[in-house]
Amino acid sequence: PIHQRSMLINGELQLWSGETREIRSPILAKTASGGFESVVLGSVPVAGIAEAESALAAAISAYDEGRGHWPTFSVAERIACVEEFTRQIQKRREEIVNLIMWEIGKSLPDSQKEFDRTILYIKDTIHALKKLDNENSRFQIVEGTIAQIRRSPLGVTLCLGPYNYPLNETFTTLIPALIMGNVVLLKPPKYGTLLYYPMLEAFRSAFPAGVINTIYGKGSEIVPHLMASGKINVLAQIGSSRVADQLKKAHPKSNRLRAVLGLDAKNAAIILPDADVDLAVKECIAGSLSFNGQRCTALKILFVHQSIAETFLRKFTDAVEKLKVGMPWESGVMITPLPDPDKCHYLSSCIQDAEANGAKVLNPSGGKIVGNIFFPAVVFPVKPEMKLYREEQFGPIVPVGTFEDVTEVLDYIVTSDYGQQVSLFGTNPTTIAKLVDPLVNQVCRVNINCQCQRGPDIFPFAGRKDSAEGTLSVHDALRAFSIRTMVALKETDQSKK
Ligand code: G3H
Repeated sequence: PIHQRSMLINGELQLWSGETREIRSPILAKTASGGFESVVLGSVPVAGIAEAESALAAAISAYDEGRGHWPTFSVAERIACVEEFTRQIQKRREEIVNLIMWEIGKSLPDSQKEFDRTILYIKDTIHALKKLDNENSRFQIVEGTIAQIRRSPLGVTLCLGPYNYPLNETFTTLIPALIMGNVVLLKPPKYGTLLYYPMLEAFRSAFPAGVINTIYGKGSEIVPHLMASGKINVLAQIGSSRVADQLKKAHPKSNRLRAVLGLDAKNAAIILPDADVDLAVKECIAGSLSFNGQRCTALKILFVHQSIAETFLRKFTDAVEKLKVGMPWESGVMITPLPDPDKCHYLSSCIQDAEANGAKVLNPSGGKIVGNIFFPAVVFPVKPEMKLYREEQFGPIVPVGTFEDVTEVLDYIVTSDYGQQVSLFGTNPTTIAKLVDPLVNQVCRVNINCQCQRGPDIFPFAGRKDSAEGTLSVHDALRAFSIRTMVALKETDQSKK
């Protein structure tokens, strides 16, 4: 077990001797009596407001005592720090990958992918920044004014990442924030905390003091307190829409706060009458159930045209029933233990609610619970009066409904609180083309004959309504964590020469 006692504040790994929180894996070990017991992975500090305040003070001085400090580092110097950090964590790949797997139950190949995707994201970000910097350093002369347009940092950024991509999604805000010259307070996710332990020394040695500081403790107390200080300039949160609203409200000048948010979603698949059913089944399985459906981009409701509903449901249910359920290191496994200990209970309540309103679980093992594993369930037919119709289940339940006319599904999407993505399955290009415009005006990505997803990370990742604020991607994030500024002077006869 890793019993972490240090926190990175003001360039020092400060030792903590107060309260700690035990980290248990969602992966349970079988006991001799046939029951289960949880595996203790270690413990982390439960620091308080005082430590968060010192982290904030350290960040502010790393930014404001400008005059030679982080925001005034050249782009090349900031890139060198990020590259040094990357080199160091690459040496600890196996350790970090194993911690992802044990802490959140993500399959081994997906945990490896999460690490490698993060490294690629950092490299692509560096490349994009070099290009942006070349564009920025040009001078423009307009109506007698000589201007150098720049991209400058915003200040103190609070980075809060999600438990489903504790490394990768946290870094999609952390790295652009740092590399653009902001200073950061980083609070690792509740599930997916220990994996930051092997990175603390790399943060410490690669960046100047105060540029990145870690926050450990009860997020529900500390984070609103930091926001209420009014000293957070950027809130970068990938997580729940409800928490984002609360945090923004806690800030005394929330209208001046830059928020970069990736939030809840209820992405729908529309399976048209002429769809290639086998392809739709394959994509909807991956789209709704990879990493147990715990992806903001997951398909969280399927609408099938009534003329093909029977065929689609038979094939889809068979495929779901055949998915491999097991431990994250087992080859080919898709369904694994869930990190949130209350999740199985919540998912069961969704199924009970759907059954009470006339739906059925179509696959025999759907909804079975073993330890922290929830067997994937196909629930049909989903109706407006059920929780599963509008609520983001964020777990391995696939609600399916039928439609007669596609306008019924368009109405569902228009009236949704969310607006991230949609998947559209069909083979007639004219029908598809007619649907693309109305859909793309409601969500931010329309996927044709494929599942919803975030990547490739070079593409914009955004959402409308309660699903997001700002756009993330390798390029967009550099803009999200900066502001356009300029240095201007009047053209004179002297300067013309
Ligand atoms: O949880 C939301 C993630 O951004 C999903 O990313 O589509 O690459 O799995 P993904």
